[in-house]
Parts: sequence; C-alpha cells; structure tokens
Amino acid sequence: MDKLIITGNGPVNGEVWASGAKNSALPILAATLLSEGPVTISNLPHLQDITTSLELLGRMGVEPVMGDNMTVQLDGSKVEHCHAPYELVKKMRASILVLGPLLAHFGSAEVSLPGGCAIGSRPVDLHIRGLEAMGAEISVENGYIRAKAPGGRLKGARIVFDVVTVTGTENLLMAATLADGRTVLENAAREPEVVDLAECLIAMGARIIGHGTDTIVIEGVERLHGCEYSVMPDRIETGTFLVAAAASRGKVRVTRTRADTLDAVLAKLEEAGATITTGDDWIELDMQGKRPKAVNIRTAPYPAFPTDMQAQFVALNAVAEGTGTVIETIFENRFMHVQELNRMGAHIALEGNTAVVTGTERLSGAPVMATDLRASASLVIAAIVADGETMVDRIYHIDRGYECIEEKLSGLGVIIRRSAG
Ligand code: UD1
Repeated sequence: MDKLIITGNGPVNGEVWASGAKNSALPILAATLLSEGPVTISNLPHLQDITTSLELLGRMGVEPVMGDNMTVQLDGSKVEHCHAPYELVKKMRASILVLGPLLAHFGSAEVSLPGGCAIGSRPVDLHIRGLEAMGAEISVENGYIRAKAPGGRLKGARIVFDVVTVTGTENLLMAATLADGRTVLENAAREPEVVDLAECLIAMGARIIGHGTDTIVIEGVERLHGCEYSVMPDRIETGTFLVAAAASRGKVRVTRTRADTLDAVLAKLEEAGATITTGDDWIELDMQGKRPKAVNIRTAPYPAFPTDMQAQFVALNAVAEGTGTVIETIFENRFMHVQELNRMGAHIALEGNTAVVTGTERLSGAPVMATDLRASASLVIAAIVADGETMVDRIYHIDRGYECIEEKLSGLGVIIRRSAG
C-alpha cells in the first residue's frame, strides 16, 4: 500500500488550482445513463472513484470515449445490462447513484446494496422509499436491490425526505426527469453538487425548478438528449488547501474555484484569524504569519458547515490558540482522525459526537494511518505543521478524493513524497 511521507517545513505558500468536484462528477456520470445520445463531460477530476464509475458504466455497455484533459463522452442509449455488481459497489458507495437513472430509463435495475462504511452505517432506505413512492416495485435479495417500474415508467410523486440526503436527493432527481408527471422533492439537499447535477440534467432537456432550495420540482419528459457539460470546481479540495495554509500560518491562492460555494468555511477561517479575499474564480487566504485561533464548528447540511471539512478543522484547531469544540451531526463515526492526531501530540478529547480540541504550539511527526477520505486530509495538514517526518499509511483513501496531491502540495512548498509499498 502506498504511503505519503511529509516533512514539516513551515508555511504553505503559493498558488494552486482546484480540480473538478468528485461529488458532482459522480452523479453527473450516472446521469448519462438517462440520455439518448452522447453526453460530453469535461473538468472531471483524475481520481480512483471516477475510474470506478467509468468502469461501472462500461460494464453496463456504455463504453466511455476519453478525450483530452479528462473529458469523457458517454451515451445512455448504449446500455445493455442494468446491473451494478457488488465488486464495484463495495469499492464506491456512490455507485448507488445508478439506481434512479437505470430504473427511470430502462424500467428495471439491479444494484448491489452498499455495505457499511468506516464513517457510519450510511443506509439507503430513503433512496428506496422515494423510488417506491414513484411506483417502483423493489425487493432486497441476496445483497442486491432489485427494482422494476410497472409498465416500464416511474410516476411523478411528492416525496418528503425525513433527513437531508445528498445522494438520495440526486437519485430521485434523476429518476424524476423521465417519470410520468410531476415530482416534488421536499426537504431536498441544497448542496452545490445537487445544483450542478440539476443544471446538467437541464442541459440534457430535463424540466427542473427549485434546485438549490429545499423544494425541487421536476416535470417528467419522454426522453433526454446529449449535451456538453463542465463539472463545477471541488469546494472541499479548495477548503482543504485553505485550511493547510491557515494551520501553517501561510498564504495561498486557490484558482479555478468558486468562493460562493464555501461561505460557511470561509467565515470560520476568518474567525480563525485569516484574511480572505475572493474574485470570480479564486480565493486567497493570508494568515500574515499569525497562529490561528481555535474555532467552534457544528456540521450540518448545506449551506451550514460541511461534514467533509470537519476533520481538516480538527487539525487546524489542534495547533490553534485556545480551545475549539467540533460537533459532528451528520455521521456517527467520523472522528477516527482524532486518535491519530493525538498520537502526533494533539490534545483532543472525544465525547460522543463532540471533539474538544485544545490547541498546542507544536505537533510531532509520527507514523499514522488514514481511515477515510477526509480523515486522511486532516493527517496531511497535521503532518505539514508537525516537527519532523510523518508517514501517512493507507493513502488510497486520499487518492479517492484529492487529484495529484503530491504535485499540488509540492507546488505550495510542502516536502512530500510517495512511497510505493
Ligand atoms: C454525500 C457525499 C459525502 C458527504 C455527505 C454529507 C457524495 C458522493 N458523497 O454522501 O461526501 O459527506 O453527502 O454531506 O456526494 N441517510 C439515511 N438514509 C438514506 C440516506 C442517508 O438515513 O437513505 C442519512 C445518513 O446516514 C447520514 C445523512 O442521512 O446520516 C446524510 O447522508 P447523505 O447526505 O445521504 O450522504 P451521502 O449522500 O452518502
């Protein structure tokens, strides 16, 4: 398993670009299953999850045609099998996103049930209940979700989500585009990635209003056509670079990004003492050499503070002045970075869904283990500010969400190398 070896080396300084958003690219790739004709997607990030997603579509008969600069063309009318096998779904939970499009376009689908996950139980009951409300007949047998649309077409329905679910909203949004009649999704996720997916579906001919609010209304159409679409920038990758600069008292400019998707994160960075300047497609953070101040965080659905930035802020608080409380309200087991950070000398007390982080002036390098995608980002940030060398093991987690992590961080002055093993 590959490892990252990082030597603490003062402030993170310089300019770096944001890649396309993984969490936007994955539903958009699934949405191509709805089309009759080629959909060309650009600004895809070069990540393992994208490769897994393309492999999944390929298994169904939709062979991706790769173009320059991570552009891919896919045509949903080429589907031969509506089957998502366990061996791919277990690699990537977001594979569940093919369920809605397959069912809506082809009237049936067989998708492996995703298993547990390091950060919590992560059920998909709301995806299934929503599709049932649209008339689908669904059974779960032998680890597979088997779904059929009677008469070959789903029906529009009013669906109220019990809890805000991002991929649940996306699955039902995609399913509703080809359903017979109007679907109303209430208590829908407002995440920018949901909006990006809706914009792509609209470019394919879907009729959608209200995306970006908690009520999305979809008028089903008979068919969707091909289009060209560019994936939005990754707000979590952007936020991770900003936190790395804030924790290390540095100055960074992230380009090809969107400040309007990061309001809650930028507000917390300002509270931590950063000076933030933004433009049309860039964000600059300057700590002016100061130590950050600890901040209190409570994760919640967008537009509140994202759970995917929680671990990075625990690392920031670990070296900040004062004590910060971090409350995780979305996933029940998303604090596995805490034990590893404490091994590097952090002072973090964990009680239930709350981490109380008392900042210390210095962390020390240590061998640590990545446990999930964002936990690994927090370990990288800690390693950048620690004295000495840190070896981060199991970095396949970080490769799932951060494109060219070594190249990008090296460009910001971080001493980092990958060791294959
Ligand atoms: C997505 C993101 C992930 C992010 C998360 C929350 C993608 C590919 N992944 O994950 O990076 O951390 O949103 O912002 O976009 N729930 C249920 N039943 C369901 C579905 C969800 O109870 O059927 C619960 C979950 O257990 C969790 C909460 O709803 O407690 C939110 O989860 P959800 O928004 O669905 O997360 P994902 O879409 O899996």
